[in-house]
Amino acid sequence: MNSDEVLELMKNRRSIRCYTKEEVSEDAIRKILEAGRWCQSASNVQPWRFIIIKNRKIIKSLSKLATYGKFTRDAPIVIAIVADKKNAPKWYIHDTSMVSHQMCLMISALGLGTCWIGSMQRDKAAELLNLKNGEYLTTILPIGHPRSERSPTKRKELKDIISYIE
Ligand SMILES: Cc1cc2nc3c(=O)[nH]c(=O)nc-3n(C[C@H](O)[C@H](O)[C@H](O)COP(=O)(O)O)c2cc1C
Repeated sequence: MNSDEVLELMKNRRSIRCYTKEEVSEDAIRKILEAGRWCQSASNVQPWRFIIIKNRKIIKSLSKLATYGKFTRDAPIVIAIVADKKNAPKWYIHDTSMVSHQMCLMISALGLGTCWIGSMQRDKAAELLNLKNGEYLTTILPIGHPRSERSPTKRKELKDIISYIE
């Protein structure tokens, strides 16, 4: 992949909030997990684990806890990204946020859709997923085949967000 293609991948990724019922292949799931596994982390601590959720009842319950992510209910699978706060007290959110983005890019490259779920009733979600003491649920990623067109999005102009020190 050349640099233009990498940039295109990044520019073409959109948050997808509608999914078909079609299953996500095991090969695709493995690639998404590998994308997460190969993420960088502060001091290479890798303070994360991933929960692959296919159970419809759990997905439905999780979707109810997602403030702006009720659409999670329609996804054939959800990956929960769990941070190990104890082993990376300073960087666990940075590290696992990058995992999430790396997975999002892979999901897009596979022609699938996802959306980062930010606001959640985390305590209840942690209980539902049986998280251990000291673990933090950074995000859940509902994943499926896109049912909707990619919604348009905007970015600030480069000239408005850069400055030089020469
Ligand atoms: C930290 C974070 C939290 C987010 N939380 C939500 C959310 O709870 N629900 C949702 O629908 N989108 C959520 N998003 C998606 C953003 O709304 C989306 O990335 C932004 O509008 C830009 O659109 P794009 O991803 O299509 O480029 C979140 C994104 C990030 C990075």
